[in-house]
Amino acid sequence: MLTKTHSPALLVKATCWTILLVAEVGTSVARDVGPGSISRSAFGQTSGGIPVALYTLRNSKGMEAKIATYGGIVTELTAPDRSGHYEDVVLGYDNLAAYQTDSPYFGALIGRYGNRIAHGTFTLDGHQYTLAQNNGPNSLHGGKVGFDKVVWTVSKAEVTPNGPQLTLTYLSRDGEEGYPGNLTVTAVYTLTEDNALRLEYTATTDRDTVLNLTQHSYFNLRGPQRRGDILGHVVQINADRFTPVDPTLIPTGQLSSVTGTPFDFREGVAIGARIGVQDPQVLFAGGYDHNWVLSDHRAGELALDATAYEPDSGRILEVLSTEPGLQFYTGNFLNGSITGKYGWRYTVHSGFTMEPQHFPDSPNQPGFPSTELKPDQTYHNTIVYRFKVH
Ligand code: GLA
Repeated sequence: MLTKTHSPALLVKATCWTILLVAEVGTSVARDVGPGSISRSAFGQTSGGIPVALYTLRNSKGMEAKIATYGGIVTELTAPDRSGHYEDVVLGYDNLAAYQTDSPYFGALIGRYGNRIAHGTFTLDGHQYTLAQNNGPNSLHGGKVGFDKVVWTVSKAEVTPNGPQLTLTYLSRDGEEGYPGNLTVTAVYTLTEDNALRLEYTATTDRDTVLNLTQHSYFNLRGPQRRGDILGHVVQINADRFTPVDPTLIPTGQLSSVTGTPFDFREGVAIGARIGVQDPQVLFAGGYDHNWVLSDHRAGELALDATAYEPDSGRILEVLSTEPGLQFYTGNFLNGSITGKYGWRYTVHSGFTMEPQHFPDSPNQPGFPSTELKPDQTYHNTIVYRFKVH
């Protein structure tokens, strides 16, 4: 619906047209009150027959994020290079079936517990809980059917003053994947005018529980034209310490200084500069797959966690969050068996993730910041991926 002002003095200016764009977006309605747009298309059905939608969020600069209701997966995210050329900078597939059968968590929302819980067990309020051991002896990323493998409900899809916004919700029932409490999770994605994809999680529970939500986008700032690995990306992480791990990638409980180790990213360093060194920590993971203890973390405040700069394209990714830790994973398990979008075969180090989160295995580590949520509390976690050029 288009309406216009009736003042003759203002009629000459196209900008005086008030555009009330009302578009059907599934069961919800999108109304433009800010910059950019949001639209919806079908993305097929799950193997169980549940329809899945794909939302395209576009800001007025031309940046786009495509997000599926399956797993809240960011299937595409574009960012400009230094000549203003927008390209997709995340790894993934072009079809739902592949996400369902063969995805190393590409682009997905992760829960209830991002990262590992040792031996798939923890004790809370004197009760021992048992989880799926889906990663060697440990439980990884919420178990067999984590939040990356469920269809989220769209509660809103609209253009807000901050940009196009998609609100996803999911009710994880008491006992799902072995975790206690009916957990209601809301994940709000907003594509802002400063070329940032912002994710804001909130969650509540009706019983004491643990949770650790994160986002699992794999980035390669070279984009699909240049492609190649991520070893030349220059990474900076605002962390003086990291959590060393055992051979199954469970933290030992120590917080170790990064000084003099391949984990010192306080000054920007190419990912590949030290990834091949004979350091036991790097060897356990086949590269980086560790949690850094973020130095600027203050509860409830958004801080700059890390940046990545790709010299050929000039693209910079800034990762901001409210979380105490950052899992930096360099795609060590990509082994060439996956061919993704653009016919791009993903070999080792084709992408990296920066997953702001609480520390791995916190429910079993009394010295780590707590991941417990009680019924009278609301969980908040904000993660921002912002793009710039140099
Ligand atoms: C996380 C883990 C990695 C790996 C990937 C998915 O980032 O830390 O070890 O399991 O997910 O392949």
